[in-house]
Amino acid sequence: MAGRRGKVPGREIVPGFRKQGRAIWTLNATPRKNVYGETLLRTDEGEWRRWDPSRSKLGAALVRTENHVSDLLPLPGTQVLYLGAGHGTTISHLHDILCGEDNNKRGRIVAVDLAPRCLRDLNYLAHSRPGLVPLLADARKHAIVGAIQPQRVDWLFQDVAQASQVDIFISACKRFLNKGGSGLFSLKAASERWDEDGERAMFEKVADMLLSSGMEIIEQIDLAGYEDNHMLFHCRNI
Ligand SMILES: C[S@@+](CC[C@H](N)C(=O)[O-])C[C@H]1O[C@@H](n2cnc3c(N)ncnc32)[C@H](O)[C@@H]1O
Repeated sequence: MAGRRGKVPGREIVPGFRKQGRAIWTLNATPRKNVYGETLLRTDEGEWRRWDPSRSKLGAALVRTENHVSDLLPLPGTQVLYLGAGHGTTISHLHDILCGEDNNKRGRIVAVDLAPRCLRDLNYLAHSRPGLVPLLADARKHAIVGAIQPQRVDWLFQDVAQASQVDIFISACKRFLNKGGSGLFSLKAASERWDEDGERAMFEKVADMLLSSGMEIIEQIDLAGYEDNHMLFHCRNI
């Protein structure tokens, strides 16, 4: 799909990422191709893809955060681990930032999901996006994930939307996240059984669990409006 010519609003906050208000964009690593029907816009710098925050929890968090958006994003050219990759909506924008066209930034994103139908879409995406490494695996099986990503990373994202998601996140951070690295955890309240005290109480319990595991909570971002009953925890491994 050819993008129309225009001016992308906002400024480039991180190389390959722009934001103004609720509009967020990444510099397309595969010009003239979109991934999920998102708008493309051609400029002198290259082609930008509009990141739809209602289709991506990381996108929603980037719009909502009260901190600097660069705190939430990995650095271009680094290695990251993404657990619960889905069909690749968020992954594709991360790939734009981390890897760029033909992986000229030399980044790497290991995208883990246990659903074969997701892997099919991720594999299709990976053909035109070098640096994207899809992995059919259970995020709880560290030996399998570790065979593909043996080194620790500075940025880990989890969006598995299944029971015990906080335990899965804590143990993944212990194994895969560097000290000082950022761990981003999207919590879906409805996936947990112990919500008899209400959602707010659950978010507090999860925050306590993260703190007692040795993580520092940098920000708790309520995604309501984009993803109801979801909270994104931005943590640092200390
Ligand atoms: C909400 S979707 C992810 C959406 C994706 N993060 C995005 O923004 O485009 C949750 C995904 O987690 C996957 N999942 C659930 N439990 C998992 C596990 N234990 N290990 C790996 N993936 C898991 C599901 O197959 C599903 O694709």
